[in-house]
Amino acid sequence: MSESAGDHVRTVVFPVAGHGTHFLPATKASPKAMLPVLDKPLIQYAVEEAVASGAETLIFVTGRTGHAVADHFDRAVELEHRLQRADRQDLLNVTRGTTPPHVRCLFVRQPRPLGLGHAVLCARAAVAGEPFAVVLADDLIAATGGRPALAQLMDAFSWNRQSVVGVQWVADARTTEHGMVSVRARDGRLHNIDAIVEKPASVDSPSNLGVIGRYVFTPAIFDALERTVPGADGQIQLTDGIARLLETETVYAYEYAGERFDCGTRLGYLQATVAYALRRPDLRRQARACLDELRASGRLQSAG
Ligand code: G1P
Repeated sequence: MSESAGDHVRTVVFPVAGHGTHFLPATKASPKAMLPVLDKPLIQYAVEEAVASGAETLIFVTGRTGHAVADHFDRAVELEHRLQRADRQDLLNVTRGTTPPHVRCLFVRQPRPLGLGHAVLCARAAVAGEPFAVVLADDLIAATGGRPALAQLMDAFSWNRQSVVGVQWVADARTTEHGMVSVRARDGRLHNIDAIVEKPASVDSPSNLGVIGRYVFTPAIFDALERTVPGADGQIQLTDGIARLLETETVYAYEYAGERFDCGTRLGYLQATVAYALRRPDLRRQARACLDELRASGRLQSAG
């Protein structure tokens, strides 16, 4: 199906108010989204994926420590002067390049941590009635087929102009970490969602398709979220909002291609760090040598 340029989803919301309790005390004064994998914070990877997928307006929903995110995407005049005086054009480019010039950053405050659904609702006025995407920065997704996960979802959105949720196969032991969907098979990677439930035990899970932090929504999600009452944990869940949306609109699940790392957990974060080091042309050789050395010294085997 063809798509005119005007139809493209250009707005992406990044909820970054999450406490990141698994990482305390690292996340006491700075949000989880600012944790670096090698030399880039998670939110920078998320923004690069969004920009590579065609995003032009980035809306960050921040909490108490959100100034770190705002500062990261702002100019750093003093630092830039220092790098200029030191003739470090390479680092100057890196510092200035956190967002390209055509991209606009907006910051919205989530006054209280009332859940992911509430965070998305906080962006309502800034989204201004357009279809938009949501990216959770702690789901770090390496593009395996060249096309970023978000771009794949945006393509899927353009076929039907209905909301699309990114999903991947999830092991039984991990259904309690995801929104889980039941689907009717439709067309290759795209399925109609029948039902969605937040973090069920595996015996109660409708399938092994779990939601991973990429979504494209019609603006109707906002009315659905307004009608969503807080769940048992007192939070307004995005998953419950999607369940509401299903009452009025079709919602699709898309099994995107890509390698996902759960950087909301310490082990997922460790795995991401090693995997990204092994992928980076400037680090690959030394990273491999580091791992070989650890293995040869017996420290990997004897740990614990
Ligand atoms: C959130 C959502 C969950 C989704 C997950 C993806 O959970 O609530 O539905 O599957 O992100 O990572 P969280 O990881 O914030 O606990």
